[in-house]
Amino acid sequence: MRNIIIAIDGHSSCGKSTLARDLAAALGFGYVDSGAMYRAVTLFFLDHAVNLADEDAVVNALDDILIEFKHADGANRTFLNGQDVEEDIRSMRVSELVSPVAAVPAVRRALVSQQKALGRKGGIVMDGRDIGTVVFPDAELKIFLTAEPDERVRRRQLELREKGVDLSADIVRENLLERDRIDSTRADSPLRKADDAIVIDNTQLTRQEQLELVQGLARAKMTTG
Ligand code: CDP
Repeated sequence: MRNIIIAIDGHSSCGKSTLARDLAAALGFGYVDSGAMYRAVTLFFLDHAVNLADEDAVVNALDDILIEFKHADGANRTFLNGQDVEEDIRSMRVSELVSPVAAVPAVRRALVSQQKALGRKGGIVMDGRDIGTVVFPDAELKIFLTAEPDERVRRRQLELREKGVDLSADIVRENLLERDRIDSTRADSPLRKADDAIVIDNTQLTRQEQLELVQGLARAKMTTG
């Protein structure tokens, strides 16, 4: 069995992280949530009032940022400079600024190089927006996940509610669609389907069904080539 790289890209809140996490656990692979890295940088920029238009300030701030992932009780938690920020990075104030931050070329350069290093040995599932196009253009398996907007809003609302955050469907929808717009139209590494990615619409699929579907594709890649 080969230790392949699996790239999962797609729009906001279509279940990429859930699929990537389930798949990594099923295959015994590592899992990297690249969106969490952009979110951690955004949290740092907010807390330190970094001006996005000031390239020197952005580059200096990036030098002061260390992002790590730790696994505890089966959960994946994000650490920023030694502090657990898993909850903070999912807050609306971070969601509202993350796409403008992720459009800054210096930010992308810094995070993409860390992401490439994390995948050097293979045996990894990474989800994001540019994983199959920029981070791992040679990934053995590329999935482009999509779901209908209403379903994405419903899922994100539920996820937030489980964390005690009650937001209207309109507010959640506006954030998802605005991030999709910025992510798809930015000049540097816009969100787009890689030519060799397999498109999966999971609107009508359960978590288990999407896992089985992609696990089958992954195992086929792991036993060939
Ligand atoms: O969870 P959700 O799908 O809503 O978003 P996320 O994966 O946590 O990513 C948050 C934001 O980070 C996205 O809206 C993008 O602006 C940015 N991002 C990116 O530019 N490139 C990536 N590889 C991953 C995320």
